[in-house]
Amino acid sequence: MAEEKIYLYPIWLRVWHGVNAILIMLLIATGISMQYANPDYPLIRFDWAVSIHNISGIIMAINYVIFLPSNLATKNRRYYIDGLKNIVPRMMRMIKYYLTEQPKKLPSPFPVTKENKFNPLQAMTYSVVMVFFLPVVITTGLALLFPETIVKEVFGYSGIFLTALLHSAIGFLISIFLIIHIYVCTTGKKITDNFKGIITGYHHIHK
Ligand code: HEM
Repeated sequence: MAEEKIYLYPIWLRVWHGVNAILIMLLIATGISMQYANPDYPLIRFDWAVSIHNISGIIMAINYVIFLPSNLATKNRRYYIDGLKNIVPRMMRMIKYYLTEQPKKLPSPFPVTKENKFNPLQAMTYSVVMVFFLPVVITTGLALLFPETIVKEVFGYSGIFLTALLHSAIGFLISIFLIIHIYVCTTGKKITDNFKGIITGYHHIHK
């Protein structure tokens, strides 16, 4: 089978992604442990979970500061901007593909090229996660680290309680994203293709 490879993930993106992936997994594990564990039998010792969560959160926030300007300064931003054009009908087309055509192993209507690395669903979810979920979870996390910065009361509810609620809700949505993200990444021509891509930088196309 003939194979072509295209360079889609520059080194800064791979470093950002790898660091972010490890930190988010630590944040989810320690976050769930703090939220649900019985303090007498914690999943992860409570004081360790707090320290790991705080340190990982701070590094993740610094790492995000690398992601945003690097995207704005390089042509990687084009994949997001172009990927969001005419988004609703293109997303519908992609959903139809996943439901009816991909199980029959038909080719994607939005194949990966040097110009378009994201299909419309990827462009949409990556944009929402990176431009909305991450900034909100980082801001609320930093606010909870310095609770004196949070307003005392909003409509009779404690400001700290509402900030914690928003922080956990977005953390929960990021966890759901991660499960779907990893599953979708396994649906390349070979199960390992996309994972190799984000490590080596090269996306492989089998012809
Ligand atoms: C174990 C954890 C993870 C694995 C195995 C993984 C895997 C991958 C793979 C294989 C790709 C390349 C395929 C593609 O372009 O869709 C990718 C891209 C991407 N991932 Fe992940 N990922 C993980 C965690 C995360 C997390 C936690 C986030 C964000 C919160 C994230 C955000 C992204 C974004 C934005 C891209 C596209 C980057 C670009 O090309 O501009 N990933 N991931």
